[in-house]
Amino acid sequence: MRPFGGARILLGVSGGIAAYKAGWVARLLAAAGAEVDVVMTRAATQFITPLTFEALTGRAVHTDIFSPGHALDHIHLAREADIVVVAPATADFLARAAHGRADDLLAACLLATTSPVILFPAMNDAMWAHPQTQRNATHLRDSGYTLVEPDVGALAAGEGSGPGRLPEPETIVAHVGRALEDASLRGRTVVVTAGPTREPVDPVRFLSNRSSGKMGVAIASAAWRRGANVVLIAGPLEVPDPVGPSIVRVETTEQMAGAVRQALPGADALVMAAAPADFRAAEPAAGKIKKSGGPASIALAATTDILACTVRHRPPGLVTVGFALETDHLIHSARAKLADKQLDFIVANSAREPDAGFGADTNRVTILGADGSSDALPVMSKTALADQILDRVEALLRAR
Ligand code: CTP
Repeated sequence: MRPFGGARILLGVSGGIAAYKAGWVARLLAAAGAEVDVVMTRAATQFITPLTFEALTGRAVHTDIFSPGHALDHIHLAREADIVVVAPATADFLARAAHGRADDLLAACLLATTSPVILFPAMNDAMWAHPQTQRNATHLRDSGYTLVEPDVGALAAGEGSGPGRLPEPETIVAHVGRALEDASLRGRTVVVTAGPTREPVDPVRFLSNRSSGKMGVAIASAAWRRGANVVLIAGPLEVPDPVGPSIVRVETTEQMAGAVRQALPGADALVMAAAPADFRAAEPAAGKIKKSGGPASIALAATTDILACTVRHRPPGLVTVGFALETDHLIHSARAKLADKQLDFIVANSAREPDAGFGADTNRVTILGADGSSDALPVMSKTALADQILDRVEALLRAR
């Protein structure tokens, strides 16, 4: 894991209207502890001033390849950077970069660096869709650069909406963080489930539980930061969607079971952090149940046990992880689930702990392995626990 602290980041800004967002990117990166060297194209200075970046980063801003006394700036900046980020990358900048031009400081830095380069294209939707731009984008990807697709959304005033928008600064920073971390799960596909499911009783009511989705989202985010392709299968979440994973939304346990089964071919790991509802109304009412008939009793039926029913569909070598939330006999019950559901390990936590379980930001768990191991971990944030879980997933994957 590589945090932002101490990282040298070369933030390139080319000249499009989205350049105003680059100020916030610089601010977030600097606040996270990175040393941010901003390099602007001449056109970028028409949209936002070097002084803005200087104030936000506390460092000199570079704009000119030909300024006396700074002849070797591009070599030094490019060599010292742990990563080069260009946000926004305009159509013109992409064209120049794709041709290996070095006619301004930023383009020259791209050629002179041996560090990873991430480009965030942003432009009018027609310019982005143009075959010339798409060819340049493909060529840049083939040259080893990472290009993050622009968002779909509102473009410059009066230009409507479409693909071409610069992602939000927080999203850009998440991608930079991912590129700075060890890509220990690169090439792996991790399927994570999160949140509760909802079982309809009638068109306006449902059966569910208190799961917030925090744990599953923390695991999905951490796996994505480690370079994995992540499929997050999510019931209704109380937390914002994570940046990175592709998200499949489901409502019922049956839908979650279907989505998991569909995601399994080609997967390397399945982490079932969701709390699927165990019961559904045996016969959901077609119309709203009225109170005038007196209290209704609802006949329940069991839902599918997703982990149990995936056993036949698990690709060979899949690392399978479950959770167990118990009020009583924690270790005994969790061990039984570990065996019944044929898991590699299970994360057991007690619903009676004050700083653990549904909705909390922290968790206190014991990890029980199929090899008989038992690891009681101290209270930690769900983010830290996500890393503990993924360290174990990685160790198992390495051993297979
Ligand atoms: N799980 C599942 N399908 C369900 C219910 C749970 O795959 N229908 C998964 C959960 O995601 C978790 C593990 O099974 O990883 C254990 O869930 P838990 O609710 O603790 O256990 P249950 O099997 O539902 O047993 P019980 O509710 O009786 O404790």
